Amino acid sequence: MADTDPLRPLLAVRNLSVEARLAGRDLVAVDDVSFTLSQGRTLGIVGESGSGKSLTARAIMGLLPANTRIAGGEVWFEGVDLRPLSDREMRRRRGAGLAMIFQDPLRALDPTMRVGEQIVEAIAAHRRIGRTEARRKALALLDAVRIPAARKRLDDYPHHLSGGMRQRVMIAIALAGRPRLLIADEPTTALDVTTQAEILDLLRQLQQELDMAIVLITHDMGVASECTDRIAVMYAGRLVEEGPTGAVFVRPHMPYTRGLLDSVVDIDTPPHALLHAVGGRPPALTEMPSGCRFHPRCAHAAGQCADRAPRLAPDGQDHRWACWFPLDGEGRAESP
Ligand SMILES: Nc1ncnc2c1ncn2[C@@H]1O[C@H](COP(=O)(O)OP(=O)(O)OP(=O)(O)O)[C@@H](O)[C@H]1O
Ligand code: SF4
Ligand SMILES: [Mg+2]
Repeated sequence: MADTDPLRPLLAVRNLSVEARLAGRDLVAVDDVSFTLSQGRTLGIVGESGSGKSLTARAIMGLLPANTRIAGGEVWFEGVDLRPLSDREMRRRRGAGLAMIFQDPLRALDPTMRVGEQIVEAIAAHRRIGRTEARRKALALLDAVRIPAARKRLDDYPHHLSGGMRQRVMIAIALAGRPRLLIADEPTTALDVTTQAEILDLLRQLQQELDMAIVLITHDMGVASECTDRIAVMYAGRLVEEGPTGAVFVRPHMPYTRGLLDSVVDIDTPPHALLHAVGGRPPALTEMPSGCRFHPRCAHAAGQCADRAPRLAPDGQDHRWACWFPLDGEGRAESP
């Protein structure tokens, strides 16, 4: 049932930590992350490769990879803490409550099943429905995601479809349960610029039609600025800045955010390329720096940066950042 309390956020992630088991050690991959998202709004999660965006998303969905686990924190959705729920209860909520478009569309679609069957399966997972009716709804969903010649496409296999069409099918499957929250993990990375714009437009239209909240994970700051209401910036597993998109873009306070905004990604830049504007590379899980994890790359590092981790203000404050010497409006750091 939809939440009726207008003051309660649709999604509230509180102090979420995720550990990954690597070579016999439990390493913290997502560290004490908190944010909220309201009904019908879009939160962008940005950050370089390996910053913990996908693991955060998968933890919310209860779909973490086998060697990872939630080590602490809570995930509240429509006023219910999802963490203690059984697999069965989570399955019931997935699709109808929360749905996810995964980073790799090829892996997410079954290559041995026709597109129509895959959508029918997603529809049947959420309601008791006859096959003919489910197929009719599948066709309506393919129409909704603007797939041309939708009737014919129902009988295609995924490899018959272009990248853009596969992505539309993924969206159709994710929408089959009419979710109130959609998590889209890099939904357009593999697509050309025109198709990317079409898919993002489509997501926006569907969001309005369904009054759906979206968590949009992206490397592309242009996409983040255009498509989101709020931005969460992650670095090395931590949330380092979060706030209204306009405020974060116009006046970023954390030097890493500034570096992300200054990086110009041209059409030939691979999606996981390093940030020229920041320099260096993010740390691996096995070699997390002490203090502020960004200090080895930060031009403003001073004083306690290497020893003590700056804390983000509690969730609820509109624009939050984790930095001992935050930047002012002109990009200068406060003096230590
Ligand atoms: N199953 C796993 N086992 C071990 N380590 C993992 C696993 N999944 C992710 N990691 C590590 O956890 C960290 C966060 O990974 P995550 O996939 O969340 O990053 P990301 O921000 O989504 O990156 P990308 O932009 O490349 O998709 C990385 O250091 C990654 O190597
Ligand atoms: S805390 Fe220090 S090292 Fe970290 S971003 Fe701020 S100034 Fe740079
Ligand atoms: Mg990822």
